[in-house]
Amino acid sequence: MKTIARPSEIRARVKAWQVQGERVAFVPTMGNLHAGHAALVKQARTHAERVIVSVFVNPLQFGPGEDFATYPRTPTDDEKIVADCGADLLFRPEVDDVYPAGQRGHTIINVPEISDILCGQFRPGHFQGVATVVAKLFNIVRPDVALFGEKDFQQLAVIKRMTIDLCLPVEVIGLPTVRESDGLAMSSRNRYLSAEQRTLAPRIFQILSEAQQHIGKGRRDYAALEQAGMQQLTAAGFKPDYFAIRDASNLLPPETDSHHFVILTAARLGRARLIDNVQVRL
Ligand code: PAF
Repeated sequence: MKTIARPSEIRARVKAWQVQGERVAFVPTMGNLHAGHAALVKQARTHAERVIVSVFVNPLQFGPGEDFATYPRTPTDDEKIVADCGADLLFRPEVDDVYPAGQRGHTIINVPEISDILCGQFRPGHFQGVATVVAKLFNIVRPDVALFGEKDFQQLAVIKRMTIDLCLPVEVIGLPTVRESDGLAMSSRNRYLSAEQRTLAPRIFQILSEAQQHIGKGRRDYAALEQAGMQQLTAAGFKPDYFAIRDASNLLPPETDSHHFVILTAARLGRARLIDNVQVRL
């Protein structure tokens, strides 16, 4: 497996594959890869003859005071995981490769409404940074299909909408969240948890699962369920930003005919801001 940093080199290789009739699958990441990423890379192989993984910690999606500088960077381990999963190429650009004209004054892609709710409300500019870098990565790599984890459910919704709105010729696929054996969603930010916080962290999935059961059994008093979720998280030692029950198709509050729900939460535990979600399909 080869590691490439230059966009022009990636593009030339992808073009050569596609000219031969080979499909290209793409898994964009910020590195510090874990089993959740590995599942995406392995699944990518079932969609295409060639698989490319990118590792790029995108400064544009971090707000002031967030963890851009300290975000875990583990290039040697990442390279091994990508190779072990059978990818063809690792694309690992530097900031200047992705932002050759600089970040200041850069074109920003804003997917309105959906970017400003839930996590967007607590991380202003975050989804604009995500949409912008994913559009750039799609333009650099020009994949046929791209895979993202459903743990970042809102991110996936933003990327799907951006891809449709901008007529990007990429099929966007979401894959189920990969969890630790105690239910904690795998995330690079889990390493911010102390040993004590790590034992508490699975409560987030348990609390989501309780709400999931209530919705599945027909409860529709969303405000009360959301309030209970916030209270349970607080009682367990989290500082929750939100606990919300939404229609999975648009992330808006459910309507009477909603049949696919997603329950999403973001909550701080010490240094870590954990996000997770569960779905209910009726
Ligand atoms: O989910 C991530 O790792 C990042 O937000 C992404 C999609 C690679 C964009 O930087």
